[in-house]
Formats: sequence, C-alpha cells, structure tokens
Amino acid sequence: METEILKLKQWVAESDNIVFFGGAGVSTESGIPDFRSVDGLYNQKWKYPPETILSHSFFERWPEEYYRFHREKLVIEGVKPNRAHLRLAELEREGKLKAVVTQNIDGLHQAAGSKNVLELHGSILRAYCSRCRKPYSADAMNHGTGVPRCSCGGVIRPDIVLYEEPLDQEIMSRALHYIRNADMLIVGGTSLNVYPAAGLIDYYRGQKLVLVNLSSTPYDQYADLVIHEKIGEVFSQI
Ligand code: OAD
Repeated sequence: METEILKLKQWVAESDNIVFFGGAGVSTESGIPDFRSVDGLYNQKWKYPPETILSHSFFERWPEEYYRFHREKLVIEGVKPNRAHLRLAELEREGKLKAVVTQNIDGLHQAAGSKNVLELHGSILRAYCSRCRKPYSADAMNHGTGVPRCSCGGVIRPDIVLYEEPLDQEIMSRALHYIRNADMLIVGGTSLNVYPAAGLIDYYRGQKLVLVNLSSTPYDQYADLVIHEKIGEVFSQI
C-alpha cells in the first residue's frame, strides 16, 4: 500500500486541477457513522428503515418521527474536521484543488476551511420553511423537541435532499463542469451506490481516477489507482 500512497502523493504534486468527490466515509474519522458499513446508520434498528424516514413522503406525513430520528442520528455534537478535510482545504489554498463535491450534509469541509464545496445533498446546518421558503437558522431544527414551525404555520425543514426529491440542478451542473475538466479526480469515502451522485464519475475524462475507500466499490475496476485504507490516514501522508 505504501507504493500506492507514494503514487498518489506524486500525482497530487504534479496536478493543479484536482477535484475531490466524497461521501460519508470522509467523516467517519470525525466520529460520524456512515450509512452502509456494518456499524453504519442503515444497519441500526429503527421502527422504519432510515431510507424510509429520510424520504419526502415520510417527512410530509410523520414530521414528528422524522425529527426524532434527525435529532438523534443526523445531529452529532462537537464533531471536528479530520485530516482528510484539513488536507483538502490546504490543497485548495495551494491552488491545486478546484472543488470538493460532497454527498455529506455535515458541513465539515467548510469547517476545515474549504471554500468551493458543492453539497449535492444539502446541509443540516441550514433550514427553511417548507411552505413559504423563509430561511431559518438550523438551531431550532437540530435541537429542542417537536416539529419546528415557521411564523406562517408551515413546517421548517432541513435544507437537505430527501429520498424522492431531485438534486439541485445548478449544483449538479457545476459539479459536472469541475469533474469534466479535472486533470485528476480523487473519489473517497463513498460506496458509490446512490445515483445520480455516483454517476458523476462517468463524466471524468482524465487518466488519474483515484479511489480511496475502505471497502471495494463498483468503480474499482475503472480506477487508475485504488487505495483501500482510511482516508484520513492516507491524506495525512500526501
Ligand atoms: P455509504 O455509507 O454508502 O458509504 C461509505 C463508504 O465509506 C463505505 O464504502 C465505507 O467502506 C467507506 N468508509 C468508511 N469509513 C472510511 C474511512 N475512514 N476511510 C475511507 N473509507 C471509509 O455512504 P455514501 O456513499 O456517502 O444520501 O452514501 C451516499 C448517500 O447515501 C448519502 O449521501 C445519503 C445516503 O442515503 C441521502 O441521504 C440522500
């Protein structure tokens, strides 16, 4: 594995148009469980499967139950960016990395100092009224009890993409633009199971597709370099 990390380090040194595309595995070393690993969110016992709770129709029908799950499982206090987030922010400051495209909703890339972060699935640090769309601070939504409501009576909802909802087309096309023009694409901490996000990789046209993921993914066979190790550990060496 040493050789692979050295190769990654060399490619990073040579590139000045890197794009990073990541998922929940980027934040596990900060203490946030991912979705599909054995200790991930989808393998924990709930009255309904988390994929169901995190859907538009469930939110509309049972907002109380949604908020119980949201506050207990999605909001994790005191989390800090780890070495992967920090190194990515540094690479952006060095002018080598052009964008971070993430499926995560935890805001840790921005907390690490990254500026150009494209949040495909939104952020739990933002909220708005589902009726009049007035923006709200995330505080009432992430803490307290019951269903937070707007002054208009509408339910305040997180600015995240729930299942059954489309992705923001503007963010998607910006992500596509960066990936299509990148000289190097590093994909990390994602099982690449959820579309359309996972399909973004198909737009990359270069010769340096790197996958850094603990477990194997459906894209391993197409990658130019595959590293099955913890992403924070890998990024602390490049
Ligand atoms: P998954 O839980 O599907 O995949 C996380 C991947 O990260 C797994 O393949 C792990 O092996 C790997 N992993 C975990 N810790 C790691 C570490 N320290 N270093 C490297 N790899 C590690 O999460 P995502 O692919 O992000 O969508 O899931 C995609 C989407 O599915 C999420 O955005 C969410 C979920 O449903 C919505 O909520 C819309």
